[in-house]
Amino acid sequence: MTSSSFDIRRVGGRIGAEILGVDLSRELDTALVAELNAALLEHKALFFRDQQLDDADQIRFARLFGELTTAHPTVPSVEDQPNILPVDSESGVRANRWHTDVTFVRTPPKASTLRSLVVPPYGGNTLIANTAAAYRDLPESLRELADRLWAVHSNAYDYAEPPKTEAAAEHRRVFVSTKWRTAHPVVRVHPESGERGLFIGGFAQGIEGLSESESRDLLRILQSYVTRPENTVRWTWAPGDLILFDNRITQHYAPDDYDDLPRKLHRVTVAGDVPVGVDGRPSRSVEGDEAAHYTPLAGAR
Ligand SMILES: [Fe+2]
Repeated sequence: MTSSSFDIRRVGGRIGAEILGVDLSRELDTALVAELNAALLEHKALFFRDQQLDDADQIRFARLFGELTTAHPTVPSVEDQPNILPVDSESGVRANRWHTDVTFVRTPPKASTLRSLVVPPYGGNTLIANTAAAYRDLPESLRELADRLWAVHSNAYDYAEPPKTEAAAEHRRVFVSTKWRTAHPVVRVHPESGERGLFIGGFAQGIEGLSESESRDLLRILQSYVTRPENTVRWTWAPGDLILFDNRITQHYAPDDYDDLPRKLHRVTVAGDVPVGVDGRPSRSVEGDEAAHYTPLAGAR
């Protein structure tokens, strides 16, 4: 496939496309950004090889898609770079759990960019899943049920696995140092495309109106559609890569399969709006503030 300004090579059958022929370190004009945004809506995750960007380039690129969040609601940024979250194996970060970034706040991010700085010689891939394809795969009866459900997401919960290292334990302490709980629709209507997607993932802890065990079972069933191999794409990092994914309609997972080898990415995130369910109702805070220190769109709507 070709757009007027770049080539698009699909990677997975249902999600992910590599963009060829764009140098992200250059000034990108409005028309090209609109085409990239259209490609993002269609493919959900875009991959750019051989970019060799620095932090300022990554920030400038992410900023083309909207206002930026700060690095994270609780985790400190890279020093003197308030918009950059270090994703560094040496600081204990192992995101080997399917999730959508920062869904525990009421206004989770729109999109995330990840840029590789240090890549292990094997493993350390990123998997991304298309939650709209998952929704479409549901049998009609489950789809109709999901349309009416709301889930409570939180950053502070009973993590199944204890941290393996002191760095990981410290990371977790910081991660949960302020607690948020937010009710989001289980089926989110995408604000730009109108597509419906399952909006659950690792921070979804329970379903409103159901018991803990009912919630767990139902979330497990719904989540099994998200993580079907057909609905995912797997990216093998090379140094200099940048990926951009739509946080409103994807989940991702970083397999912890690279032993103690270093792996380092920088994440820069575009602020998103308040999710809306199929009945038009917006997400609501259950506990914690609007996280105005994190997202410039806090309190919107
Ligand atoms: Fe993540």
